Amino acid sequence: MQIHSSIPELRQALTRRGRVVFVPTMGNLHAGHIALMTEARTHGDTVVASIFVNRLQFGPDDDFDRYPRTLQDDCDKLSSAGVDLLFAPGEADLYPEPQQYYVEPPAIAHQLDGEFRPGHFRGVATVVLKLFNIVQPQAAIFGKKDYQQLMVLRNMTRQLALPIAIIGGETVRADDGLALSSRNAYLSAAERSEAPRLRRLLQRIGLAVETGETDFASLEREAADELDRHGWQTDYVAVRRQADLQAPDDSRERALVVLAASRLGSARLIDNLEINAGADR
Ligand code: PAF
Repeated sequence: MQIHSSIPELRQALTRRGRVVFVPTMGNLHAGHIALMTEARTHGDTVVASIFVNRLQFGPDDDFDRYPRTLQDDCDKLSSAGVDLLFAPGEADLYPEPQQYYVEPPAIAHQLDGEFRPGHFRGVATVVLKLFNIVQPQAAIFGKKDYQQLMVLRNMTRQLALPIAIIGGETVRADDGLALSSRNAYLSAAERSEAPRLRRLLQRIGLAVETGETDFASLEREAADELDRHGWQTDYVAVRRQADLQAPDDSRERALVVLAASRLGSARLIDNLEINAGADR
């Protein structure tokens, strides 16, 4: 696996590479990331990963400084996963001058996570557009665990007419259902055994909706209350339309997704579950 930190070197290395599939990450790679690399291999000739902890998408109280940075270990994992090139720029490679041009995502990015992390998706969209311009891939893969991020980036790519296919990779989970995340490392042993409750509550909501429950507000409130009774601090539990992440205005809506974000100790965990409610509702 080739590793490049400079933009010109990476561009040089990417000439005549066939169909390039790109997997942007912030490193501290786990099995969920590796599954995205494996998926990438099935969509093209050259798999390019990036590792960059993007300051622009962290708020002042977020975990930018303590975000785990494990480059050597990550390189070993990517190499074993058959990744062809890794772009691992330093801050000065990607932001040699203060970034003054931004991608301003629309309303979809100001709700849910965007409401609780103001500016987050602006930072994500800006760095991803910049990475797309550097790597110029034909396809890019983002995990469905960050469901709203995937939608923001898919919409950006479509609206800016970027010639890049955006692919959603399935969430990888621990045996007890907890979605794999670099932020799980912040959990104490007791919090780690509590953490799968989030997934169980999403499944409970999914089952209720699939079997005909249409009072989404009560389902959301009950789940948030249960989390908070068990020591979480919940930002949101929300049943939304898969198509646009808006609240369903018609209870016969079928393609739904329930999304949640909640803090457990010093870890802010997010998860979601797609619900395809039965045709007989
Ligand atoms: O999902 C992530 O790891 C980051 O938000 C991304 C897409 C690499 C942009 O920094």
